Amino acid sequence: RGSGAGAPVLINPRFLLVWAAPLVGFPKMLSAMPCLLCSVQINEINGRVCVCIANMLYLESPAGVGFSYSDDHNYATNDTEVALVNFLALKEFLRLFPEFSSNQLFLTGESYGGIYIPTLAERVMEDSTLNLQGVAVGNGMSSYEMNDNSLVFFAYYHGLLGDRLWTQLQNACCSDSCNFYNNPNPNCTDSLADVQDIIYSSGLNMYNLYAPCPGGVAQRLSVERQTLVIRDLGNSFIQHPSSRLWKQVCRRSVRLDPPCTNSTPSSLFLNDPYVRKALHVRAAALDWVICSSEVNLKYGRLFLDVRKQYLKLLSALKYRVLVYNGDVDMACNFMGDEWFVESLQQQVEVQRRPWLYDDVDGRQVGGFVKEFDNISFLTVKGSGHMVPSDKPVAAFTMFSRFIKGQPF
Ligand SMILES: *[C@@H]1O[C@H](CO)[C@@H](O)[C@H](O)[C@H]1NC(C)=O
Ligand SMILES: *[C@@H]1O[C@H](CO)[C@@H](O)[C@H](O)[C@H]1NC(C)=O
Ligand SMILES: *[C@@H]1O[C@H](CO)[C@@H](O)[C@H](O)[C@H]1NC(C)=O
Repeated sequence: RGSGAGAPVLINPRFLLVWAAPLVGFPKMLSAMPCLLCSVQINEINGRVCVCIANMLYLESPAGVGFSYSDDHNYATNDTEVALVNFLALKEFLRLFPEFSSNQLFLTGESYGGIYIPTLAERVMEDSTLNLQGVAVGNGMSSYEMNDNSLVFFAYYHGLLGDRLWTQLQNACCSDSCNFYNNPNPNCTDSLADVQDIIYSSGLNMYNLYAPCPGGVAQRLSVERQTLVIRDLGNSFIQHPSSRLWKQVCRRSVRLDPPCTNSTPSSLFLNDPYVRKALHVRAAALDWVICSSEVNLKYGRLFLDVRKQYLKLLSALKYRVLVYNGDVDMACNFMGDEWFVESLQQQVEVQRRPWLYDDVDGRQVGGFVKEFDNISFLTVKGSGHMVPSDKPVAAFTMFSRFIKGQPF
């Protein structure tokens, strides 16, 4: 089983950061990590030479996404198997490149990486030959229930729903608290269908509410050059009746595009024969596409939340954990992850406060951070789903402080 090559950037050989995948079937080339970004950003802004702080190992996982492939062409997999193969890939990498094995090791990822990273960490922490120091998850899927429940509040309070729909939702979905996740009341599911239409089908960029939609407003489902194109990765409202119907309709040859994402430049670049050669991509590897519909549609989602994994990591009292969220993302919105971190009920070390970073216009508020024992929740103000792409300078500052164990 092949796994895609990474693009490690080597500066200070003290750290090894593993960046594992995003939304299911969606390889992580889109949101470049700080080392790739800083060479541009910091040069432009400060006229300084690129200062990189870690070596990066990118995992294109599970097999079937990006350049990774499987010899038996079987791309059905699930959360447990992915955690295992990511662990084995990491072990294999360190066997082949033992010079990295004593480095401090951090595991990071975003989006569906919210599942991949804690489940991988659960295995890594049990292997004493791996020098695990910490885990960082960006705009992660931590709990489907909290993600859906918070999104409806997020949408209303960001001006997307209006009072009529909000009143209907309150009446049909809420009593003491609101259940927008698996509410059996048909009036509630009807109103939630309207919410989903607004968030996913009206043309908003769900990955960044305030960014335009590259390529213009598109349908959630369309036919282009005789290919069915789906623009829905199936991570939200999985309990809603329409989502289950959706999944049945989609079991055939389709192209899966994340909505409002222009994948043309990355596809052209990565499929260039010289680039493939430079990355040592095997001839047997698939063409690089932004999303694998096959992997996505056959994927077995086994964890509805990763509470158990986080509690296990925290109970070791020796790992640094960071949950960070761009605060204008609607795929994995900040509030759902904030609720999730709060629900772990760790002791508060430093109350929620703004965190600052230096930018061209001087010192700026990067967002807010609340520090608990061994785990911090941090927002990145004005950033969407892909924090390093949207806010590279703030993201670089955040990652530096995280890796070095400095206060945010
Ligand atoms: C996950 O996938 C593995 C490998 O295909 C399989 O053995 C296992 O039964 C699956 N687990 C579940 C719960 O489906
Ligand atoms: C759904 O709404 C209709 C019309 O407002 C109402 O008559 C009905 O009782 C509601 N159903 C439930 C289960 O609340
Ligand atoms: C985790 O918390 C414990 C208890 O407060 C502390 O002793 C330890 O140094 C912390 N570990 C890290 C990595 O921050």
